Amino acid sequence: MYSKEQTKELQKLTAELIKKQSPFSIKEQDAEQLRDILRFHEYRYYILNDPLISDYEYDQLYKALEKIEKENPGLITPDSPTQRVAKGLTRDFPTVQHLVPMLSLNNSYNAEDLIDFDRKARELTGLDKIEYCVEPKFDGGSISLIYENDLLTRGATRGDGVEGDEVTTNMKQIRSLPLSAKFSHYGLQQVEIRGEVLINKSNFKKYNEQLIEQGEDPKANPRNAAAGTLRIKDSSEVAKRNLEAFVYHVSYFSLVKGKKTPEELTTHSGSLQLLWDLGFRSPEKEKKLFKGIDPVIKYCRDFEIERDNLPYEIDGMVIKVNEIALQDKMGMTSHHPRWAIAYKFKARQATSKLLNVEFQVGRTGAVTPVAKLDPVAVGGVTVSSISIHNEEYIKEKDLRIGDAVLIERAGDVIPQIVKSLADARTGHEMKIHFPKTCPACNSKLFKEVEEAVWRCTNIECPAQVVERIIHFVSKDAMDIRGFGDANVRKFYELGLLKDIPGIYTLDFTKISGMEGFGQKSIVNLQQAISNSKKQPLHRLIYALGIRFVGETTAKTLAQAIDYLPDFKNFSLEELQNLEDVGPKVAGSIHHFFSNKENIKMLEELEKLGLQLKNEKKQLTTGGNLSGQSFLFTGTLPTLKRSDAETMVEENGGQLLSGVSAKLNYLVVGEDAGSKLEKAKKINTVKIISEDEFLQMIGKK
Ligand code: IVH
Repeated sequence: MYSKEQTKELQKLTAELIKKQSPFSIKEQDAEQLRDILRFHEYRYYILNDPLISDYEYDQLYKALEKIEKENPGLITPDSPTQRVAKGLTRDFPTVQHLVPMLSLNNSYNAEDLIDFDRKARELTGLDKIEYCVEPKFDGGSISLIYENDLLTRGATRGDGVEGDEVTTNMKQIRSLPLSAKFSHYGLQQVEIRGEVLINKSNFKKYNEQLIEQGEDPKANPRNAAAGTLRIKDSSEVAKRNLEAFVYHVSYFSLVKGKKTPEELTTHSGSLQLLWDLGFRSPEKEKKLFKGIDPVIKYCRDFEIERDNLPYEIDGMVIKVNEIALQDKMGMTSHHPRWAIAYKFKARQATSKLLNVEFQVGRTGAVTPVAKLDPVAVGGVTVSSISIHNEEYIKEKDLRIGDAVLIERAGDVIPQIVKSLADARTGHEMKIHFPKTCPACNSKLFKEVEEAVWRCTNIECPAQVVERIIHFVSKDAMDIRGFGDANVRKFYELGLLKDIPGIYTLDFTKISGMEGFGQKSIVNLQQAISNSKKQPLHRLIYALGIRFVGETTAKTLAQAIDYLPDFKNFSLEELQNLEDVGPKVAGSIHHFFSNKENIKMLEELEKLGLQLKNEKKQLTTGGNLSGQSFLFTGTLPTLKRSDAETMVEENGGQLLSGVSAKLNYLVVGEDAGSKLEKAKKINTVKIISEDEFLQMIGKK
């Protein structure tokens, strides 16, 4: 796509823009040149995974272009990097016809199937040996794209193969799809391309965690998540999901008058090369050419081993006859081309029987149904129990005890039940009854309006107490090694440990007589418990297991006070003034600190030697920022929020938790929201960037 010289030149131009002048002051800069620079960096980031500038620098350049275009709307082009931005809601997705029907692929599962495919291919072509192009079979949502006169004009889902939904605006949110590409350099006027939209494994994991946190059902696999995302009405939501796209097939092209079919489009591998050279993420690097079927079989097998190391899901390989003229000769059935076949990897799906449902109580009292299954191997692990999330989920999937169920384990994702196989029912299956009372303490369960989860609200419920202690000692919380789930449960059952403060008053004379507790493990455990007293305040806050208070919020909270129990004096409004604390989180924190028992527990922990004071806050004396107060909002371009806050403290500045007349500096990052608006209304608050902040402390 970019030659070495072009890369060098663009890098040089970028450096000049970034270093010599603040991008915000680029006025006369040629908008087209700035667009070229931004497209180049998008390509480095989204296609090559090898960025040459920081996100911050990219953002500065992007903002500079935005500013120029705002001041000179005539300069905007439809393929400007700024034009991906989602505009409003799509009311519905019109149905559109594909230029060429999107056929499916025939499947194969073993070497014999491939040998058979090769035999037929040789018969149809009359050749002794055929050249094949082999590439991954991406496991996402199938799409078709049309580029006309170099511009992306239409994006559609597969639909029924003949017609699909037009989702162009949503497709434009996918940064690995170029908004324009120089097809005209190859004499091409209109082109229809096929590809697959994916969500990579780590983004999928994050997305599912978010869904569960919000009390929604997680998606069974990245494929469903990607395909579903394409049909979201609000394209700004689509942008947040970080979809990616691979393109692997040119299904149609028309030529500019007087031009001939480019050489590249006479072979499949050539078309992958052409797409790659135009800036698409085609499987150019993953594809391989082979003569005859034997090395094809080997490559497919080798790739299967690599499957788990890829950042995205693939469910097999696709083997294609490389010569387009041969493909045309072989033709297609109404269902699939005869010149291609999919080699499917070992299934990550399996069927099993739903034997029973157990209800587990978590540390916040949430009652989670867990399906107990006939143990079954899926994707290399044996699965015998799977969370089925909540009552709604059970209803929606119509799960019954005794059902045959389809299970899927996508990559390293937690296994999910995809569906029950209702057709296989015998009539002896039983409905799943959600309990009305807590399975651990028998108190009545409650469900809040608009929540999917039933909860036990008895704070002394033994199941909750145990889970709270397990969370307290866990690695990301107080990190008391040697404790572990099993020991917490054992000590609790034996009456040696009743609550969190009890960790610090354990009777080791009793424990030392127990099986599995030698002198060494006792000493280690004592040491780990004692060390945990020195953990910083944010860890203790996280360890308390307050609903919705994750590690990040815990850090925000730790920064906002001098002494932990002081939170009992915070109003809901004051809590909401803290960064990233919305009404739901504020409500939960307020609820925790209004409970006298919780305050008593904190006081007890303090007496036992735990740190409830914000030590770092006490240290602020002198320094560049002495006498000045700071607040950070939005995502900072390079600094982690907690690091930036530490810098304020180390330089003698004071951190405030909300915008008020007392605030001297609001440091704004990306997506700054209400705090910025509020600060703008107070004349005395200075609004600065991270860069300016770093200058203040002499780091720039
Ligand atoms: S070729 C006529 N190549 O798999 C061309 N398909 O199960 C047919 N798929 O509908 C498509 N990766 O959505 C092709 N490298 C790849 C693919 C691929 C994934 C999807 C595609 C197709 C489905 C068939």
